[in-house]
Amino acid sequence: MSRSVGILGLGKYLPPRIVTNADIVAMGIDTSDEWIVDRTGIRERRIVDESMATSDMAVIAAQRAMERAQVEAKEIDLVIVATTSPDYLGFPSTACLVQDRLGLRNVGAFDLSAACSGFVYAMTTGAQFVETGHCKKVLVIGADCLSKWVDWTDRSSCILFGDGAGAAILGEVQPGRGIITSTLNSDGSEASILMIKDGGTRSMFSKTTLDTQANHIYMEGRSVFKVAVNTVVTALVDSLNKAGLTPQDIDLLVPHQANARIIEYVSGKLGLPPTKVFSNIEKYGNTSAASIPIALDEAVSEGRLVPGQIVATIGFGAGFTWATSILRWGV
Ligand SMILES: CC(C)(COP(=O)(O)OP(=O)(O)OC[C@H]1O[C@@H](n2cnc3c(N)ncnc32)[C@H](O)[C@@H]1OP(=O)(O)O)[C@@H](O)C(=O)NCCC(=O)NCCS
Repeated sequence: MSRSVGILGLGKYLPPRIVTNADIVAMGIDTSDEWIVDRTGIRERRIVDESMATSDMAVIAAQRAMERAQVEAKEIDLVIVATTSPDYLGFPSTACLVQDRLGLRNVGAFDLSAACSGFVYAMTTGAQFVETGHCKKVLVIGADCLSKWVDWTDRSSCILFGDGAGAAILGEVQPGRGIITSTLNSDGSEASILMIKDGGTRSMFSKTTLDTQANHIYMEGRSVFKVAVNTVVTALVDSLNKAGLTPQDIDLLVPHQANARIIEYVSGKLGLPPTKVFSNIEKYGNTSAASIPIALDEAVSEGRLVPGQIVATIGFGAGFTWATSILRWGV
């Protein structure tokens, strides 16, 4: 019989520096608190200081998850860091830096690139190792530092993103608990609507890169909005069907926190009342791969997610990628 795999403990890290919408206006960006709140639901976000990088946040989130799960470093078999803002372009992976700082030895460590869908992709990937018996405990982290990738002259994207990390320890749970079903999806034909154009092997970093800000996030906001809403509802319903469930069975929806209007659209389509939908976007903005584990951590701390409940997560982001995972909460 195959093993049931679930989340044994969660941890999060958010940088202490709060940047409000008013702070963004004060930076000289042609926008307003009213516009940002109305179009996105975001009131403030957390931004790292210059010296902090993605692995620094990931390590703290991981330590907190290990504490909650009461798992020691020597018990962890594998580290997966979902990120698209690694400490270094190319290599070494952020996962290796995290593995070393946590004092983990003889473990595999790799980064997973699926942008804002990264955590659900990484959790689904990590779960396979536990299910097959290849690993006993897997550390899965979603961490992004998109404030460093943002084009701070582009008012349509710089208002959206914040920094943060969320971590989960995956392990075997009792039958009937944990991940019930997951789906991973992609559509590379939509790659151009959300990308960082320069710095990779397609278009190397050059002097023009700096002049055109092409080492920063390029985003066609309306297209991203449309692709997101057109894909995630179908994916989640398919996922529920696979599990023999319907939207009415969801106790808590934990969607990627990209835009309050996307969250409202998706929950409306699924017929879910606000009490069954978790959102913290007003405090943190879009923390990319970190948004779902941070939200899960807060849902548990606030008592909105308790053992036995059905929680549905949906990630979506650049690639284009989207992914869902449905769990029965608890160990
Ligand atoms: C970016 C986003 C908030 C823009 O909202 P929108 O309602 O689609 O607005 P549009 O892009 O159509 O722009 C409408 C107008 O607002 C302006 N505008 C854009 N950003 C603005 C800002 N921060 N402040 C004030 N005005 C702004 C535009 O310039 C445009 O002006 P125009 O009509 O004079 O040309 C929205 O498209 C969005 O959230 N998309 C999804 C992005 C996302 O989630 N990305 C990450 C995915 S993981």
